[in-house]
Amino acid sequence: MAKEIVVSGIRPTGFLHLGNYFGAMRNYVRMQEEYECYFFVADWHSLTTHPDTKELRNSVLRVLAENIAAGLDPEKVCLYAQSDVPEIAELFLLLNMLAYKGELEKTTTFKDKVRLQPDNVNAGLLTYPVLMSADILIHRAKYVPVGKDQEQHLEMARNFAQRFNHRYGELFPEPQAFNFGNQLLKVPSLDGAGKMSKSENQYATLYLADDDDLIRKKVMKAKTDSGPTEPNSSMPDYIQNLFQLMSLVSEDSTTQKFREDFDKPSIRYGDMKKQLAEDMVKFIAPIREKANAIRQDESFLSKLMKEGAERSRESASKTIELTRKAIGLKYF
Ligand code: ADP
Ligand code: TRP
Repeated sequence: MAKEIVVSGIRPTGFLHLGNYFGAMRNYVRMQEEYECYFFVADWHSLTTHPDTKELRNSVLRVLAENIAAGLDPEKVCLYAQSDVPEIAELFLLLNMLAYKGELEKTTTFKDKVRLQPDNVNAGLLTYPVLMSADILIHRAKYVPVGKDQEQHLEMARNFAQRFNHRYGELFPEPQAFNFGNQLLKVPSLDGAGKMSKSENQYATLYLADDDDLIRKKVMKAKTDSGPTEPNSSMPDYIQNLFQLMSLVSEDSTTQKFREDFDKPSIRYGDMKKQLAEDMVKFIAPIREKANAIRQDESFLSKLMKEGAERSRESASKTIELTRKAIGLKYF
């Protein structure tokens, strides 16, 4: 039986972090065993917010190296750059006819970006979810492993697919956001405000490229307080965040022990953060070192991207053929 199809992308807008890892990459690695996977670097999308391309090439190669270091096997999955697959741009153009200005303006990420960059509200920013839908629909994917922040974009992709199918005949499956834990994940930042992110909150985000001392410093600076005074107190958000981070990288018994200490209460946040820092170091260091080694080998990475682009275009061109035919754009 044909394998089900999976697509996901990461923007090359900076160093990857634990949010990218647990929200997206960890799922990619598990999915590569059972699904037909297309994972790409969303370089066109990065131009909506990062028009300066001095660091682009470096970032693209780094994203690839870090994904391979995290466990992606280029033999099993198709890895490519979005801009190497022009069929995506054609599908984007066609989907734009099914996307309405009002719904695009209402998208949460659009409104956030307008607030963040009021002087550069470009059309690419507005149509970002349409391009993302084209990325997904071009391979007729069923599952899209992403973090919680992408939920609304996936809903829009389903709407565009539905509208297309309704108007021109059944062609696209309705893609679903995916996480092995059943729930989409939001990895919180260390300062208790918002999520880890490539470009905001840099000191409260743990990057896969951070060295051991920097990881320790960031974790030790995480926000805490003087601790609970009553048994079974309710837990403030920023302490819940620390527990969530701990549950991602530490042994279950370790997290459990600190939970019990919190309930008693006999917890010492300094000890908890020391433990968390060491477990983070143990988790991040091997990925960082492996990624650094892979990043050095540019000819390996270029070859991989060329082969990935070819494979991706094979699948994409089939979809484009069917799309043109469904719409009636076929004259010979
Ligand atoms: P960023 O938001 O850091 O710029 P991207 O937008 O390129 O990163 O996101 C790449 C993937 O990582 C997406 O699937 C996104 O949902 C996921 N992701 C990013 N930040 C987090 C986070 N803090 N928690 C969970 N998933 C995240
Ligand atoms: N919008 C996604 C993000 O900011 C990145 C992305 C672009 C993507 N195209 C995609 C994710 C297609 C999944 C599928 O994280």
